[in-house]
Amino acid sequence: MVRVFMLFFALSLVTDAIASDSETTYKFYCAQCHGVNGDGTGPNVTADFATDPRNFTKKEDMAKLSDADIRSVILDGGPALSKSALMPPWSKTLTSEEVDGLVQVLRGFCNCQGAP
Ligand code: HEC
Repeated sequence: MVRVFMLFFALSLVTDAIASDSETTYKFYCAQCHGVNGDGTGPNVTADFATDPRNFTKKEDMAKLSDADIRSVILDGGPALSKSALMPPWSKTLTSEEVDGLVQVLRGFCNCQGAP
């Protein structure tokens, strides 16, 4: 019994570490535009932005994007999906695992699942 408990405790430490790693990645690379809380109002968004960064807390918008859509736009940038070039490509900066983690962070902001 004690062993089972210790196993769960160890597992929860591991999952916490994964979650906080992805949150750190988000804060480092994405929050300046998309905002610490994901609402699209980061400090680098100037009045000259032709397109506002996506507000990840808007459930109805985020539910339209599949996880694969989110992955592509993160890896290849806005223009890859006919979106604004203000959304940079990250394929040379982030690992595939980091991108997966970011998809989960964004799903946490919208509290929604993607379109299949
Ligand atoms: C320099 C500012 C900037 C940074 C940094 C940035 N983004 Fe964006 N992002 C944008 C803008 C602007 C859009 C809106 C593009 C559009 O709607 O045409 C956008 C859109 C998106 C979208 C929605 C695309 C869609 O199909 O609607 C996702 C998902 C996204 N960004 C994820 C991220 C992630 C994850 C990071 C960090 C790795 C990040 N962005 C960093 C500016 C930024």
